[in-house]
Amino acid sequence: MTDQLIAPPAVEAPPASWWRNAVIYQIYPRSFADSNGDGIGDLPGILSRLPYLRDLGVDAVWLSPFYSSPQADAGYDVSDYRTVDPIFGTVADAEKLIAGAHELDLRVIVDLVPNHSSDQHEWFKRAIADGPGSPFRDRYHFRPGKGENGELPPNDWPSIFGGPAWTRVCDPDGTPGEWYLHLFAPEQPDFNWEHPAVRDEFKTILRFWLDLGVDGFRVDVAHGLVKEDGLPDVGHEAEWHLLGVGESPCFDREGVHEIYREWRKILDEYPGERIAVAEAWAPTLARVADYVRDDELHQAFNFSYLGTAWNVPAQRQMIDDSLAAMRVVGAPTTWTLSNHDVVRHSNRLLQTGDGEVAGRRPTAVDPVAGLRRARAASALMLALPGSAYLYQGEELGLPEVVDLPPEVRQDPAFHRATGQDGYRDGCRVPIPWSGTEAPYGFGPEGGGSWLPQPDSWAQLSVAAQEGVPGSTLELYRAALAVRRGMPALAPTDNLRWVPAPDGVLAFERAVEDEPVFRCTVNMSGRPVAVGRPGELLLASGALDGTADNVVLPPDTTVWWSIQD
Ligand code: BGC
Repeated sequence: MTDQLIAPPAVEAPPASWWRNAVIYQIYPRSFADSNGDGIGDLPGILSRLPYLRDLGVDAVWLSPFYSSPQADAGYDVSDYRTVDPIFGTVADAEKLIAGAHELDLRVIVDLVPNHSSDQHEWFKRAIADGPGSPFRDRYHFRPGKGENGELPPNDWPSIFGGPAWTRVCDPDGTPGEWYLHLFAPEQPDFNWEHPAVRDEFKTILRFWLDLGVDGFRVDVAHGLVKEDGLPDVGHEAEWHLLGVGESPCFDREGVHEIYREWRKILDEYPGERIAVAEAWAPTLARVADYVRDDELHQAFNFSYLGTAWNVPAQRQMIDDSLAAMRVVGAPTTWTLSNHDVVRHSNRLLQTGDGEVAGRRPTAVDPVAGLRRARAASALMLALPGSAYLYQGEELGLPEVVDLPPEVRQDPAFHRATGQDGYRDGCRVPIPWSGTEAPYGFGPEGGGSWLPQPDSWAQLSVAAQEGVPGSTLELYRAALAVRRGMPALAPTDNLRWVPAPDGVLAFERAVEDEPVFRCTVNMSGRPVAVGRPGELLLASGALDGTADNVVLPPDTTVWWSIQD
């Protein structure tokens, strides 16, 4: 017997505190939809595809940066925070996009990059042009070098993208001068957040975009703004990772929280619950929770979850720990499995088994097995209490592209061997919309795509999956429809575990203490028969079974309604 899925109930989710259980879709603008055929996605392209996102059933979109930028780090090097880069469009296009999204009941979150600017930002250009003593140098971290002639960097910090975190500048007369700090690429000088002008500037940038109608911000490197006084050495031998594993003098310093308390007041001045979500890699979940205390930001990505092994004890522990950490501050958990910086979970969860985050070279996996596990993992994530972020293309089951030739790769870390990873292009390949040949509707026919799309992507396009029962796109649509329609899935802290066979994870969600929903995940690696606790709502893979039992193949998640 093969199971038929029942249609999800149609009930509107409550509008209050929309973000506590929202599903938010990350758009990586250069890879989403290209309206003008230059091979790079843009804002008008996104506008034209908004109905797709409404039909998918997400609540909001988060757009990676589209501001003026030399694109040394794909837009995370901003030269003007109040303009749109011509490759993406204009501020008028941004306004149209925000308005268009709102018409479809989609909220819009934009990226904010406060840790560093581009080296082409007006302030940094002045800092260089004016020479030593320029007040603009105080807005960044300029220091004299060590060594007899200042030829050594001021401290031993490494850049996340490889090499030292310092670059020496030439004075206007051409002689080697001071060094400046850049935790990322040399084209991304770090701001000095002790300087009042930096603080004021970002408050006005927040207001600029809030006035334009955005519903919130994703705060890039939210844990990095404040550095330890005196920028002390860490010691080369230290087991120190810049992305928040362990203590570091440049990440997760107490001083960042004062900044977010100020920002929260600004967000709260605006109607409609404007929010901010932190990209904060902190050593513990408790430290991540500090960013979402009720007078700070609203959400913080749960990167610990993203890196959790695919097995029952590890998943259960991480889910418990995450909910417990956020419960302390009354915040929801913000789940995510993929983004533009990490190997897509359709590869990652199979590639390492331990869900390794970033910093490693992606490898090819069996695409069928990789997708099966990714679908099961997504269905698990979407059944958990709290908010969830999806990364464009995961709803199509796109795999990581592991064989991009070196000459097309654009990740700035790629050529810096000691860097964080340099392999982030593989998750950034433009997504396929339709057709049998590249660019698969990403842009006009005959146009290209800034990274080449694999030949096999014709079968993964939106058009190829739309309306096809069992397709990954239809699985996501069904999951989001159930999530929207079931009041039991709205509360952010109503999960309880239920007994399950070895290698199977099972939990329920309750309303007024009555369980009404169950999620069962088979992580055991073999088919497992489970009793039917109610009506089947969703299955991430094909099931077999009898009237009393269903047989879950390995790496399969099912959702049940257990309402009377
Ligand atoms: C962004 C990356 C970017 C880095 C520097 C991040 O965490 O997500 O894409 O390279 O910040 O801005």
